Amino acid sequence: MKKYNIAVVGATGMVGRTFLKVLEERNFPINNLYPMASKRSAGKKVTCQGREFEVEELTESSFDKDIDIALFSAGGDTSKKFSPIAASKGVIVVDNSSAFRMDDNVPLVVPEVNKDDIGKHKGIIANPNCSTIQAVVALKPLHEKYGLKRVVYSTYQAVSGSGVNGVRDLEEGLKGNDIKQCYPHPIANNCIPHIDVFMDNGYTKEEMKMINETHKILGSKDIKITATTVRVPVFDCHSESINVELEKDFNIEDIFKMYNESDDMVLMDDLDNNVYPLPSIAKGTDSVYVGRIRRDFSLDNGLNLWVVADNIRKGAATNAVQIAEVLIKEHM
Ligand code: A2P
Repeated sequence: MKKYNIAVVGATGMVGRTFLKVLEERNFPINNLYPMASKRSAGKKVTCQGREFEVEELTESSFDKDIDIALFSAGGDTSKKFSPIAASKGVIVVDNSSAFRMDDNVPLVVPEVNKDDIGKHKGIIANPNCSTIQAVVALKPLHEKYGLKRVVYSTYQAVSGSGVNGVRDLEEGLKGNDIKQCYPHPIANNCIPHIDVFMDNGYTKEEMKMINETHKILGSKDIKITATTVRVPVFDCHSESINVELEKDFNIEDIFKMYNESDDMVLMDDLDNNVYPLPSIAKGTDSVYVGRIRRDFSLDNGLNLWVVADNIRKGAATNAVQIAEVLIKEHM
């Protein structure tokens, strides 16, 4: 089997470390691995697939080597500067930042939803926002079968989505130290309806990301979408209430059957036994979980879903590695 040279940019970060774990778990065919980070981390060691690798400082010459694919998760500014440099040297970049997601020349991909867009890349492929990824996995089969008319997202997002500072704010807050290093308010015992910066239209950037990225991934700008994104005191896994208005009527039994038979989702919906998706169930897994499926009686063709996934894995690292798997299988 052919093996590939892989760079992991941001290898010491929360998502970067999970890239290494997921590459190992999925037995990705790695020849050489090049972990990269800032100067601070140069010389540190990381392990993957039983081998130890030394972290190198990311510089403009980092991609002068023979590298096939680079997985980036080192922030938008780093991606903006270094992804085009890597691509110009023939490296295919899978970028976890928001830097290129809405660029018309950059495919934005969730393999379960729009795998074929990968083939249109010109050197950079964008990994969507964590909240968007799990939502579109759930929405795709509904859109195909019944047509999406309107979607209302309400999210309950874990602090790990803010990186180490978010986790520290919650850890310290739970000990009674109400530090605010990451958020404008204490996150312990709180819900903060403010993720990323506010825009002129009163939405947060996170909310606009969910709306715009859903349109792009589903390839349909006509769907009416609104979103409220909320940071909650949960360490890992994002939960989402998704209210949907469909174009066509449906039988609720068919919706259950559709999710039950899906390879891409895990249906957890047994009300008699209090079974529904929870962050504690999704943590550490690669699945998207759906439950609390019920008709929304307040409108024609309305449906409610509760969708949970691990934001660092399926919402970031696993999705990027799945893109890389499609690349090597179908495009290299
Ligand atoms: P470092 O650990 O050397 O700072 P997180 O999202 O968990 O905060 O992780 C961010 C990742 O991006 C880390 O691996 C971090 O490296 C890396 N990083 C941040 N800024 C840069 C930069 N300017 N050049 C290269 N890597 C960077």
